[in-house]
Amino acid sequence: MQPMPFPSTPLPPIPAVAPKLPYEPPRLGQNFWILENALPNPQEVVERCFNHDRWEYGLPYRPEKWPGWRFHDVLTPEELGGLEEWVKQVTGSRRLWVEQAGVGARVDCNVAQLVGGKDSGPRPHTDSRDLCRYAAVIYLHPDPPADSGTSFYRLRYPNGAIGGNLVPAPYRNLVDALGVSKLPPQAWHEELRIKNVFNRLLLYKANLVHSATAYFGEAERERRLTTVFFWMAE
Ligand SMILES: [Fe+2]
Repeated sequence: MQPMPFPSTPLPPIPAVAPKLPYEPPRLGQNFWILENALPNPQEVVERCFNHDRWEYGLPYRPEKWPGWRFHDVLTPEELGGLEEWVKQVTGSRRLWVEQAGVGARVDCNVAQLVGGKDSGPRPHTDSRDLCRYAAVIYLHPDPPADSGTSFYRLRYPNGAIGGNLVPAPYRNLVDALGVSKLPPQAWHEELRIKNVFNRLLLYKANLVHSATAYFGEAERERRLTTVFFWMAE
C-alpha cells in the first residue's frame, strides 16, 4: 500500500490500454457516514460476543475468504432496527434489505468479527454489487489503536499514475471491473483513513474500494472486534 503522493507531485497519465475505474472522492455525508455512540449498550454487545461459544473460523485457521473468527446475528432485531432507521435517514433510502446470497449461503450482515494481528492484513476490495449497496462496521474494541479502522483506496498503476476507486454497474466487483483476479498491495494508494473508535459506526457505499486499515491483538480480548453489515437499498 502506498500513501497518496503530495498534491503538487506531477504524475504520469494512466496508460491508454490499462483497465480503469471511475473516481468518486470519499466525502462525509455523501458516500460515507459516521455515527458515534452507535449502540446504546456497546459493553453488553462486547460481552455477548466473548460469551459466544460457537464462532466460525476463517483465515488462517480455515481456507475461507474472510479472516479471523465470526458469528451471525450478533445484534437483536431491536438493536439492528435502530441502526437501520439511521442508515435509511442518512442515505435517503426508503427500504433496506439483506440480499439472498444463493442456496445455502448467507450474506454476512449482523456478524461479529474478531481478527487478530497475525490473522490478516489490509486487503483493498469492494463488496459485491449483487449483494449490497451499503456496508457498515461498528468498532467494538474498547481501547483500540487508532490506525486500525477502515481505509479507502485509489488504484495505482505501475507507472505511478493514480486511478479511480469505484466499481460501477454492471460490474459486481473489482475482478469483473478490471479483468484481473488479484492485485498486489502496491497497486493501491491509501487515500483516507477512518480511525477505530469504540462504538463508532462507519457506513459507506459498498462499491468504493476499502479495507480494514490493520488488524491487531493476540489474546482473544485484545483482537480487533467489530460487527459488520451489508444492505441492499432503494
Ligand atoms: Fe468490505
